[in-house]
Amino acid sequence: MFKSYRKLFITLSLVVSTTTSLAIATDAISSRTYENGKKVIDGGVTYPVVHGKTASYFINEKAHMIGYSIGRKPTKNEITAWDIDVMPDGTGLPKGSGTAEEGDEIYEAKCASCHADFGAGGAGYPALAKGNAYEGFKTLKNQRTDSSIDSPSRVFGSYWPQASTLWWYIKTGMPHPSPLSLKDDEVYALVAYTLMINEMKIDGVEVDEEYELDEKKFLKIKMPNEDGFEPNIDGKQGVENVRAYFNDFSNYGNGTRCMKNCFDGKPIIARIQGVGISNYDPPLSTEKSMPVAKTETTDVKGKKEYETVCAACHGTDAMGAPILGDKKAWATVTQKGMDKVYQNAINGINGMPARGASTYSDEKIKEIVDYMVNQVK
Ligand code: HEC
Ligand code: HEC
Repeated sequence: MFKSYRKLFITLSLVVSTTTSLAIATDAISSRTYENGKKVIDGGVTYPVVHGKTASYFINEKAHMIGYSIGRKPTKNEITAWDIDVMPDGTGLPKGSGTAEEGDEIYEAKCASCHADFGAGGAGYPALAKGNAYEGFKTLKNQRTDSSIDSPSRVFGSYWPQASTLWWYIKTGMPHPSPLSLKDDEVYALVAYTLMINEMKIDGVEVDEEYELDEKKFLKIKMPNEDGFEPNIDGKQGVENVRAYFNDFSNYGNGTRCMKNCFDGKPIIARIQGVGISNYDPPLSTEKSMPVAKTETTDVKGKKEYETVCAACHGTDAMGAPILGDKKAWATVTQKGMDKVYQNAINGINGMPARGASTYSDEKIKEIVDYMVNQVK
């Protein structure tokens, strides 16, 4: 089903490219070169002018073979050029290998400028790791509609159901400015590196610097969240699962079913005027009140500064810093008493630079520390 759907997509897309080429179409099918000397894409076809009609819709008899009367079947070469994704079962995965250490080097050179050290992300670039992928995994139930329910960090390790997506995403999309520039071995190395910073295991073996990933080991990766998605649409039960899921209204919306008198209060009516229609019956209301804009009142003290300066290290355990929200880590920290903790944050301790290398005042630092400590209360 997926494959044939894609075929349709390719067919339709090609219609667009072939129609644009028609203005300069020659009179030979399968010509590989336009009159202006430009080459068509590999396997491309240009169409002759027949009865003064230049559109492929009228003259492409081959198209009837596939039933749409438009476009044509893509050539084998075209399909090969497009069909570069990697599927969970290993379809499309090339042979190759690379170690996490090699990946680290390539990462520093080609990825860290955007995704930050150790895949921490930030400044609009997605994080590639949030520490231990297994710990980051929580339930996905209701996570689309209810933000108050714990859901996994939406990063590769704890969220993505299949590692194959990572392989082809890096291969075909990254580095952002020059996609498809990486060799297969480099992609293996980068995937190994990504697994390492997510603290993942393959077949029970922790992926460390020396770990060499190849196509065989790759297929043994089991993503922590593979079975976390609801409803499970795969397999024979798939349709039934979807039905059962959506029949249970507690799975979506606000969790309560309502058919009648669901809203109490007065509706706020907004009317638009000036569109040239008059003489309404009943006449237009003159009321023009719009819903009152909500203003952000939850301006939590220290949060903004935390995100600007401290999150770089405290948002990931790659730096050895106690992670925001990690109860165990913060229990150890606060054991010493808050005065000592403030002092350590202000004066620095081990890998923790004084004031997190910021110029914030003592008061500000205490405020941020309070914010951090409050996240585990
Ligand atoms: C110039 C900036 C830039 C560079 C360099 C870069 N990326 Fe990205 N990367 C992005 C952006 C932007 C996105 C988000 C794209 C989107 O969502 O459409 C992204 C997304 C990703 C994702 C998907 C993350 C997710 O959870 O959705 C992965 C994986 C990734 N990049 C890996 C890499 C790797 C590996 C390299 C180095 C070979 C790299 N990137 C280099 C900008 C960059
Ligand atoms: C360059 C990375 C880095 C930055 C930036 C950073 N921290 Fe830290 N922080 C650490 C590390 C590493 C530790 C663990 C130090 C140790 O105990 O060995 C730490 C520990 C702490 C602790 C616990 C101290 C204790 O008594 O155990 C507090 C509190 C803290 N940081 C607050 C902050 C605040 C507030 C900021 C931002 C203003 C900040 N950090 C920015 C790396 C960082």
